[in-house]
Amino acid sequence: MRIVRTVEELRRWSREARRSGLVGLVPTMGALHAGHASLIRAASAACEHVAVSVFVNPTQFGPNEDYARYPRTFDADCALAEAEGASVVFAPPVEEMYPAGAATFVDVDGLSARLDGASRPGHFRGVATVVTKLLIAAEADRAYFGQKDAAQVAVLRRMAADLRLGTELVVCPIVREPDGLALSSRNIYLSATERAQALTLSRAIRRAEELVAQGERRASELTGAARSIFAAEPGVRVDYVELVNWATLEPVETAAPGSLFAVAAWVGNTRLIDNTILH
Ligand code: PAF
Repeated sequence: MRIVRTVEELRRWSREARRSGLVGLVPTMGALHAGHASLIRAASAACEHVAVSVFVNPTQFGPNEDYARYPRTFDADCALAEAEGASVVFAPPVEEMYPAGAATFVDVDGLSARLDGASRPGHFRGVATVVTKLLIAAEADRAYFGQKDAAQVAVLRRMAADLRLGTELVVCPIVREPDGLALSSRNIYLSATERAQALTLSRAIRRAEELVAQGERRASELTGAARSIFAAEPGVRVDYVELVNWATLEPVETAAPGSLFAVAAWVGNTRLIDNTILH
């Protein structure tokens, strides 16, 4: 497996690779876990050549967020990427993605201000910008993202369609710990007490799924039931509990197939998210 540091080298690799099959890209910020492994595996199963990008993107972090302390585990990331079938790890320095004086950003109007975008102003602008740069650099046929970041998926789908980037976005299911906690690179921040409290998110998601399975469709009832579960755990502070249209991220009053039920909450100083797509 090769480690590539420049856009030019990645593009050269991709152009050569595309002569003998599909190129898949798995964009990540590193600190890879079993959720990322599932994305790389899905890419390797469908594409002859797979690149994994490992880049902690400064523009998607707010000034008081965890950019500086975000876990960086490059050697382990490379080992996992290789074991799951990646041919290349693209790990550019910040100046490669944002050359001095960089002034071009990608803003997905409207969507970028909803859900996580409402609590993290500028976050989705940073995500859309870096993913655009990665897709242009990699010239990939397919790019793989996790459903755990469901609002990010909505923003990136809109962006890829608007810019006609020509890369197919593939969304893979959430990977959970045996007790239900959705895998996240940020789970590493949790103390033992917080780890137990963090289960409130998946409990709230499961409760909404149960109610839908019993025939409940009203957003007020679904969000109310989830909020009651959060209310029973004082160590957890809710950011949002919402039922939305997954394409627009606009709130809906009634659940329909494909509606996104999403929660975000603070467990100590760690902000976690979880969701389900209702069927
Ligand atoms: O989901 C992530 O890890 C990041 O937001 C992404 C898509 C790699 C962009 O930095």
